[in-house]
Amino acid sequence: MIPKSFVQDLLNRLDIVDVVERYVPLKKAGANFVACCPFHNEKSPSFTVSQSKQFYHCFGCGAHGTAIGFVMEHAGMGFVEAVEDLAKSVGISVPQEASNVPQHKVAPDLYDLMQSATRYYREQLKKTPRAIDYLKGRGLSGEVAARFGIGYSPDDWQNLKAAVPNYQDASLVETGLVIEGEGGKRYDRFRDRIMFPIVNVRGQVIGFGGRVLDKGEPKYLNSPETPLFEKGHELYGLYQAQKAIRAQQRVIVVEGYMDVVALAQSGVEYAVATLGTATTPHHVQKLLRLCDQIVFCFDGDRAGQKAAWRALENALPQLVDGKRLGFLFLPEEHDPDTYIREYGTEAFEHELDNSLPLSGYLLRELTAQVDLHTQEGRSSLLKNAQPLLSAITAPTTALLLRKEVAALAGVTQAELEALYSIKPIAAPQRAAPPKAKRSTPSGLRTLLRCLVMRPELARELPGDWQAEGTEGAAVGALADWLRESADETSTAAMIQHFQGTIHEAVFAVAQGDVMQWGEDFDVAAEFAGTLDKLREETRKAELDTLHAKMQGKDLKALSEQERARYLQLLQRGQA
Ligand code: UTP
Ligand code: MN
Repeated sequence: MIPKSFVQDLLNRLDIVDVVERYVPLKKAGANFVACCPFHNEKSPSFTVSQSKQFYHCFGCGAHGTAIGFVMEHAGMGFVEAVEDLAKSVGISVPQEASNVPQHKVAPDLYDLMQSATRYYREQLKKTPRAIDYLKGRGLSGEVAARFGIGYSPDDWQNLKAAVPNYQDASLVETGLVIEGEGGKRYDRFRDRIMFPIVNVRGQVIGFGGRVLDKGEPKYLNSPETPLFEKGHELYGLYQAQKAIRAQQRVIVVEGYMDVVALAQSGVEYAVATLGTATTPHHVQKLLRLCDQIVFCFDGDRAGQKAAWRALENALPQLVDGKRLGFLFLPEEHDPDTYIREYGTEAFEHELDNSLPLSGYLLRELTAQVDLHTQEGRSSLLKNAQPLLSAITAPTTALLLRKEVAALAGVTQAELEALYSIKPIAAPQRAAPPKAKRSTPSGLRTLLRCLVMRPELARELPGDWQAEGTEGAAVGALADWLRESADETSTAAMIQHFQGTIHEAVFAVAQGDVMQWGEDFDVAAEFAGTLDKLREETRKAELDTLHAKMQGKDLKALSEQERARYLQLLQRGQA
């Protein structure tokens, strides 16, 4: 666990303008900085960064957040990873609150060793015609080989002696590059193999895959899990593909190293591969942060079919309404590498466009297993679908699939939900006729804008302050936050705190609104004035309700409590 106070402190030390500029060049525009948004395609800049408030907001696609949020979004990092990355950039280390999750300590020299090995393997490739010929034979240009840092490990037991200062260094074993046999004898893990470096989103080499040139077992040898390399989290080629994934808003997930490289060779630069493991929920989550569409394209064989189904199962909990997941099934004898080389880029992309949507694949498989003409078959369908449907949390997707499965089984959606004991997704109740004042009073919106500029002003809200609707709830939550935890009340700290909560969207709107407020704008005065106006409005509204109850000015129509309140409200008006 990273302590909250550290996150606040980090946000204070960072300048979001520097952070964003590491990835996107910014231009000064008035009080703010702007750029074409890295999160969607656009020709004129609507991505705006406020240096004084330390947050960004895109008026085109609504992307928003702090420096931490930006790095998470842009590099597809998780929160912890982003905080560590940013802390490193300002030269501070992340303290750890006691937690029962074991923490890997990654010594920076492990990365250095991997880097040295990568350089060495690449040099060896240049000196080894047999390895060059192999890659050429597979249709790779020198340019693509360089893009992926492909190298060659010679056919010797201790190659890396030439690459690192001390072959006996304990960390060399930790990287997985060197194996210590019985009696302490050391030797290289990778010998006589084409070397594919596995790179994390920061561009650091964290592992390797090594392929035999001729026949031999295993065909691919991979780095073991190390402090640097966690297979279920990493995707081969993601570092190289990031830009194309954003630009195309699409990513293809394939099975093999060579598939990624061959697709890039043919101009399809947005492919990544899982690393000899099933697609995990982590993978899916990471990719959905980067783009709107994932297409899984596995080999046409049985193993590929199985991998596709595992990918579907692991994707279900990560589904997000509005994002698309598709499955492309190649002819049995093909993998993406052979397919694109035989049929070309255009044909392959055409297939991608026509991939089978996740819902179609799910229903196809579920119904293929049973005979829907029999009661037993429909009953099996319901049973088989249960774990799958229960895993989906994206509301619209869940709703539509429940309806379809229920219809296929001849039951109602409500019956299916009861059977599964899952929370029903109800059709929205026809809302009660709108009350006289349903829209947000503009005062409340102004209040919220002021609070985004200066969150600490929420301390001035009266103790009995109440307001309705999502805006009111957000203001209330902000006041709670100030009371309970925040000693740091910067805008960035506040945004970071509400990231991922139900209040995030409301604050995001207000953040966009205040982008244009000048530095000399008197926020406190605006806040006080608005608060007064709002209190007067609520006072009047409450009085109106009481008056209506009294029907003429008879106080007896009121309960004792109401009478006291009535007098209180009247008095307040005279103050
Ligand atoms: P494939 O056997 O489909 O190989 O394994 P490929 O990608 O088509 O490779 P080429 O075209 O023969 O060179 C797919 C992936 O499964 C993992 C690797 O990640 C590989 O890229 N794998 C396969 C291993 O880890 N070890 C193996 O022995 C084989
Ligand atoms: Mn292949």
